[in-house]
Amino acid sequence: MNDAHEWIQRWDSQQERYIERREERFTVIGDVLEEVCPPDAKILDLCCGPGSLGSRLAARFPRAHVTGVDFDPVLLGLAREVHAADPRRAWIETDLRRAAWYKEGQLSPGFDAVVSTTALHWLSGAELTRVYRDLAGLLRRGGVFLNGDHIAPAPNEARLARIGKARRNLVERDADLRGSATWDGWWEEIAADPAFTALWQERRRRFGDRHGEEPITLAFHLAALRQAGFVEANVVWQRWDDVVMAALVA
Ligand SMILES: C[S@@+](CC[C@H](N)C(=O)[O-])C[C@H]1O[C@@H](n2cnc3c(N)ncnc32)[C@H](O)[C@@H]1O
Repeated sequence: MNDAHEWIQRWDSQQERYIERREERFTVIGDVLEEVCPPDAKILDLCCGPGSLGSRLAARFPRAHVTGVDFDPVLLGLAREVHAADPRRAWIETDLRRAAWYKEGQLSPGFDAVVSTTALHWLSGAELTRVYRDLAGLLRRGGVFLNGDHIAPAPNEARLARIGKARRNLVERDADLRGSATWDGWWEEIAADPAFTALWQERRRRFGDRHGEEPITLAFHLAALRQAGFVEANVVWQRWDDVVMAALVA
């Protein structure tokens, strides 16, 4: 059986199957933080999974504190095990689908930055709109929100969507050649590891098979961010339908 480090390495390789320039995307998020945040920034990693983005940021900003939020007991279990000895990392289990998620997670305002990758497409438009309002309240004045995720094509962009899909298929073919796991394959493997069976069953109870697919366009994100109180919001990096958007509070 793999240890937690190996599971996270396999996670990263599995995610690269779907996000062609995942490390570049992490770097861009760090680049924006370097411009906006103090060296001892308080960073919230929303839907942190096993902590991949937070680990890149903690390595790049040695005085920063990174709090990871997620509702998946398996992924948080891996993160907690690997980073147990690092006082700059904290982990909070809370469900963003619940209106009181940040209160239930005992999060207080004052974060310099909120970051997230490959996760907010799990939320519905209504949930996302509410979460964006919550984030504007959790950030300090001048703080930044950065979201790296796939965006849905607008209804009149069917041909552009097909081009993007064709390019993604090529990246997946390369991942097959490298032998990296698929999303389903990674979950099947860890479910079979006795060390994770109980957590995996709890995960199934919480999420079922869903990982939300309400198509949310870039225009929707940017409008929702502005309505939530962010004064500037735009794309700072893009690869096909994969974007990093940045939004600043006043
Ligand atoms: C594809 S993973 C990405 C994880 C990590 N950010 C990364 O880039 O490797 C999506 C993450 O969103 C989390 N997530 C989805 N819905 C959530 C919710 N309602 N509350 C908290 N976390 C959620 C999942 O548990 C999962 O960790």
